[in-house]
Amino acid sequence: MLRNNIISAIVILVIVQIFSSCRAKDDHPGVEYAPNMYHSVPYEGLSQITDESEGKWLSSRIDEKGEYFNTNVNNPHNMNMREPVPGTVKRTEDGYLPYRIPKDSVELAGRILTNPLDSTTEVINQGKELYARFCVHCHGENGQGDGKVGVVFKGVPPYNVGRVKDLSEGYVFHVITMGKGRMGAHGSQVSYEDRWKIVRYVQTLQNQN
Ligand code: HEC
Repeated sequence: MLRNNIISAIVILVIVQIFSSCRAKDDHPGVEYAPNMYHSVPYEGLSQITDESEGKWLSSRIDEKGEYFNTNVNNPHNMNMREPVPGTVKRTEDGYLPYRIPKDSVELAGRILTNPLDSTTEVINQGKELYARFCVHCHGENGQGDGKVGVVFKGVPPYNVGRVKDLSEGYVFHVITMGKGRMGAHGSQVSYEDRWKIVRYVQTLQNQN
């Protein structure tokens, strides 16, 4: 009987001890096991904890409550990360620079842009597949402007007649990217590389008799 009481008392004491040590008091946040595993001594770009309480920025310190601060006084705004170099241009997801030729500068695009992809059977076949997905309903299987939508939409020119036949690759790329007249822009739906593939296929349609 006495033994059971002693065991119960010990269990209760242990439980009380465990729960009381979990309390987050203002003056004592508890003990962290191996704090260096949670708080980086080197500068952390993504988990910067700044301390302005003392009215000045400190590069790295632990305060009396065990709170870790970590700011780099040598960087702008005391950031741990560095700012990009002025004039840095963000690349797009597929690694290319963003397309910056304005919509109304189609002639310019036609003069200065060249296709980065060679005219191989593989590229042309991929272009044909993409053409079937994005263009064929207006421009038609053979680029005659006779797609199912094209005949209702009206005003879709054949690729192999008149001035359209001689449009340069850069021009066609720009028209796909930005749209022209009543044709909508496809730049946001078709990736940079896929647009150049489509251009390769459109060229085969321009060149048919
Ligand atoms: C909704 C129908 C539609 C779709 C889809 C469409 N086009 Fe067009 N396209 C047109 C029309 C309409 C024109 C004539 C635009 C104008 O000059 O008003 C045109 C014109 C063109 C021209 C000639 C531009 C010029 O200066 O005469 C090219 C090249 C062209 N489209 C390529 C494409 C390619 C490549 C695709 C697929 C990525 C595509 N189009 C998708 C309707 C469409």
